[in-house]
Amino acid sequence: MKHLDITLKVDVLAYGELTPEEQHLTAMAREATERSYAPYSKFCVGAAIELDNGEVVSGANQENVAYPSGTCAERSACFYAHARYPEARFRRIAIAARGTDGEFVADPVAPCGACRQALLEYEVLAGAPVEVLLCGADKVYRLPSVASTLPLAFTEF
Ligand code: THU
Repeated sequence: MKHLDITLKVDVLAYGELTPEEQHLTAMAREATERSYAPYSKFCVGAAIELDNGEVVSGANQENVAYPSGTCAERSACFYAHARYPEARFRRIAIAARGTDGEFVADPVAPCGACRQALLEYEVLAGAPVEVLLCGADKVYRLPSVASTLPLAFTEF
């Protein structure tokens, strides 16, 4: 029997250690939490995507009284980004969240499984890793790619 060892490399950084581009994108993700519509969970998530055309597109979770009809911040952002700029390719994404107390969560939140799969599609289209920045109150988790968040992903399309 053989084994596959799949490891996930996560850099843990203070905001001051990020590059200027990363700092800008994390600020946009944090700002996007203000545009969350989360009257049911009161958990406000924001996502910001840097595109290779220089644009940054952001999104926020949008809930609905018919609960499954809502969508996460990450899918709100990636679907809007590709609908708005279909020729552009994703470079990096930042995700931030504020809890029910209105404060940014101490430990970064990671995208749900459905969002990982949705984001992966755009990483495949880009043909290069899309960096992932998960924003906590005072620290950021930096992951090298969307694929690293979804081991053994389905990518046969
Ligand atoms: N949510 C996101 O926006 N992104 C995720 O990756 C996980 C969860 C939203 C969905 C819902 O509006 C709220 O957070 C609570 O689950």
